[in-house]
Amino acid sequence: MNKTDPNKSKFSEVTIANIGIQGDGIANGAGERYYVPYAAPGDRLIITQGEQRKDGRFAKIENVVTPGPDRIDPVCAHFGTCGGCSLQHLSNDAIAAAKRGFIVTAMGRRGFESIDVANTFVIDAGERRRVRLSVHKGRASIIGFKAARSRHVVDIRECPAIRPAIAALIDPLRALSGTLDAIGRKASILVTETDNGIDLLLRSDVFADLTLTDRETLAQFADHHDLARIAWDARGGAEPVAERRQPRLSFGDAAVRPPPGAFLQPSAAGEKAIVRTVVSTLSDAKRIADLYAGCGTLTFPLSRLAPTHAFEGDAEMIAAIRRAAAGHPVTATERDLARMPLTPRELETFDTVVFDPPRSGAKAQAAQLAASKVVNIVAVSCNPATLARDLRILADGGYTVESVLPIDQFPWSPHVEAVAILRRQPL
Ligand SMILES: C[S@@+](CC[C@H](N)C(=O)[O-])C[C@H]1O[C@@H](n2cnc3c(N)ncnc32)[C@H](O)[C@@H]1O
Repeated sequence: MNKTDPNKSKFSEVTIANIGIQGDGIANGAGERYYVPYAAPGDRLIITQGEQRKDGRFAKIENVVTPGPDRIDPVCAHFGTCGGCSLQHLSNDAIAAAKRGFIVTAMGRRGFESIDVANTFVIDAGERRRVRLSVHKGRASIIGFKAARSRHVVDIRECPAIRPAIAALIDPLRALSGTLDAIGRKASILVTETDNGIDLLLRSDVFADLTLTDRETLAQFADHHDLARIAWDARGGAEPVAERRQPRLSFGDAAVRPPPGAFLQPSAAGEKAIVRTVVSTLSDAKRIADLYAGCGTLTFPLSRLAPTHAFEGDAEMIAAIRRAAAGHPVTATERDLARMPLTPRELETFDTVVFDPPRSGAKAQAAQLAASKVVNIVAVSCNPATLARDLRILADGGYTVESVLPIDQFPWSPHVEAVAILRRQPL
């Protein structure tokens, strides 16, 4: 496929109008829309044209003629190559405005033109407590994040987006991955900072058992770096290889022991903002269903308001909730809510539902909720497009979307979290 148009001149001068949902600056030139990575609103740029995309063309900055008012110097040496952060060249205010814009645009596309979208709740950078590092093993090992729109791993030496305890492990993990026999050419390492230490989950691209030497190496690594746990993803399930103490997470006043690889909100501050927003709007709840509950991030704080039943597709996360539930009005059920959403009949025992699905959203569950008598619904989402789709289903079923709060859980990336509050008059 010919990706560039030879009839177009190589260089163009454009002005960036706004930031698109993938984090690229958007400029409208002579009959063409350009998507320009690392551009800022108001930038006057010389660009070279790149690959065509559905509704426009990628372009690369050749020269910044006049910087836009929100352009700042990025703080990371890897900015521009590492795909982890694409907005580090923008002021916090500009990032917050862009992310609110993503929600407003997505909602507008689903017919919510006059919805109350609050200003973005901003979370400081440097607070990411859960990251998946990619490893490439060649003559030398490389560890880092994928480059933008590429499988190529950028070898990182620093990362100002992540918690210091995780950043301090980058070099040791690079060295470690080079020595493990069970790691083929590629691997990933999920690093989570829990309340009582770092939890690692290693996964190789090839199915392989750890050798005895690998096990000894991992145990020594855990000891040396005082890690809580190292687990190996053996495809049949994660096997803890070194567990110096069981990782612990505090949700409300419950202490949860997450299984290896369990979902966790990416920063403690983000989690706090979500929990505070959800709980503060539901003071009149009488019986709550927490759908897509993970390990109970929302379940336990919600259970202070009213008895709460968690539904989650992952059996091990449900087991973690049950283990922590003693003394709390919390019950939990393993259930695939995409294939088997709760029906209006099952929802009759709840006046309040919170749902926090993966990026693909909760289409099937939203359709069932739309036909239910549930009074309060709170939707938490990391994908504005699927959130807006699901809210449209609920609004068509008679719910009013009262407000949407964007939360910048992923500073410097184009991702945004949102909490939407919906109610219906009791039927
Ligand atoms: C965005 S996380 C939210 C978890 C939790 N609410 C929290 O804040 O930590 C989405 C959760 O949905 C679960 N999940 C994904 N697909 C599912 C499905 N089809 N049915 C039920 N749960 C599912 C995942 O395992 C994950 O725990």
